[in-house]
Amino acid sequence: MPLLQMKHICKSFSGVYANEDINLTVEKGEIHALLGENGAGKTTLMNILFGLYRADSGEIFWKDQLANFTSPKEAIAAGVGMVQQHFSLVNKMTVLDNVILNLKGNAFVLNRAAARARLVELAEKYGLQVNPDALICELSVGEQQRVEILKALYRNVELLILDEPTGVLTPQETTQFFDVLRNLKNEGYGIIIITHRMSEIMAISDRVTILRDGKQVADLVTAETNPGELSAYMIGRELNESYNIEETPKAENMLVMKHVSNDHKHHGRHKIEAIDLVIRKGEILGIAGVEGNGQKELAEVITGIQKKKSGQIILDGQDMAGKTIRERYEAGISYISEDRLSDSLITGMNIIDNLLLRDYKKLPFAKHSIVNRSAMRKNAKEKMQQYQVRASGKSGVDTQVRLLSGGNQQKLIIARELTDSAKLIIASQPTRGLDIGATEFVRQQLINQRNAGKAVMLISADLEEIMALSDRIAVLFGGKIVGVLSREEATVQKIGLLMGGISEEEEK
Ligand SMILES: Nc1ncnc2c1ncn2[C@@H]1O[C@H](COP(=O)(O)OP(=O)(O)OP(=O)(O)O)[C@@H](O)[C@H]1O
Ligand SMILES: [Mg+2]
Repeated sequence: MPLLQMKHICKSFSGVYANEDINLTVEKGEIHALLGENGAGKTTLMNILFGLYRADSGEIFWKDQLANFTSPKEAIAAGVGMVQQHFSLVNKMTVLDNVILNLKGNAFVLNRAAARARLVELAEKYGLQVNPDALICELSVGEQQRVEILKALYRNVELLILDEPTGVLTPQETTQFFDVLRNLKNEGYGIIIITHRMSEIMAISDRVTILRDGKQVADLVTAETNPGELSAYMIGRELNESYNIEETPKAENMLVMKHVSNDHKHHGRHKIEAIDLVIRKGEILGIAGVEGNGQKELAEVITGIQKKKSGQIILDGQDMAGKTIRERYEAGISYISEDRLSDSLITGMNIIDNLLLRDYKKLPFAKHSIVNRSAMRKNAKEKMQQYQVRASGKSGVDTQVRLLSGGNQQKLIIARELTDSAKLIIASQPTRGLDIGATEFVRQQLINQRNAGKAVMLISADLEEIMALSDRIAVLFGGKIVGVLSREEATVQKIGLLMGGISEEEEK
């Protein structure tokens, strides 16, 4: 008896299919991967299973019983848990309180000590280490994800849906996370995992279902396929793995940071200390490092979101001291934030307005404070086309951003931030959550910016991405730059050691 069978599932939004006749079977102890381009319908299918959406037609069988869940509460009670693409934890509460949230009346909650003990036991059993008393806002994304999984396990689920769980993890965290998944598999849990990374699918899954434009194009046994076949099914073409990186003169400095430190006494903030960095015009500087070593802080002191405590930041000869976020943006600092939903988009607003969040005061959109809607609309249409931002249905540029798929939201931020007036582009995890075609596109856009004489700071947990794009690579560890390597000197080995806080001398 399979754990789950979804049969002939259909769902459309404004007359366009997001899921068209999808079949999915998951056995006990099976890890089933769901693959497809941004907007292919993966999250929609899982939302239907989890009771967040109603299918237009089709049936779901849970342990051979007809079960179309009408709410997540019902799904969880039956044994289906989901960790969503965007976490739903309460920031100002502790880990334990988040885990037992909404379980009032349950015997475990009445006794906090027992609840705590059970949480700790689950955490240990599956290798999901996390401090029960820490506040969520103090945790790294990797740790927050562990809390989400613990929350589901605490509720005795038997099937766990994981929507792009590794997008936010460092390579090391991903390895640990896969160990957790293998433990769960061995205990008989069923797992559905959405990921864009072929290597992960090959490493962890038993079967793969591939969606394309809402349709199911394949259901394969992982051991009988390969990454090339998977990507051919997914996008119908082979990928271009090399980028057009031109020789550019790199004499002039675009960004100079002298001995910059932040004020890290804030809740949940990491420190950066005495940062000395230069990015030249026409250069991509990669920032490698395990997440939580000051990457976000580095980006935020440059953009002005965080105040620096000491030091100097100079952009194209202009001292940024005392300048606001907006003034810095106007001076040419663009920021693609890793935390797209909270920092960069207003999800209740439509595409047009989100594209203009930064520029609404500028001509041709506003003249003497009269907003020019048709110019705004035209701009949005062009950007959507250029960056292949896909919205289903007929609403087009009027679509609310919350209705876009995760990857399409990310493309929208990139479309907005790569403006002509940018001089320095700080791109933090720019391809996280993007499918392989979109990833390739965005990387080439960053290179084009560089080729056009701009400076790019590329912050990425993906070492392959850093190595493929950067002219020079700086490694951040414990809030300090522990090494800067040229493209020629850089090897995975060298960078890996520096990322772990080991300098070359120590290695010798
Ligand atoms: N509530 C909704 N209203 C209207 N359209 C929606 C809604 N939810 C999803 N869609 C649309 O359905 C399509 C499929 O979206 P879905 O989120 O399932 O994609 P996905 O495969 O998860 O993509 P990604 O890899 O980018 O996360 C998209 O075109 C999206 O805009
Ligand atoms: Mg999705």
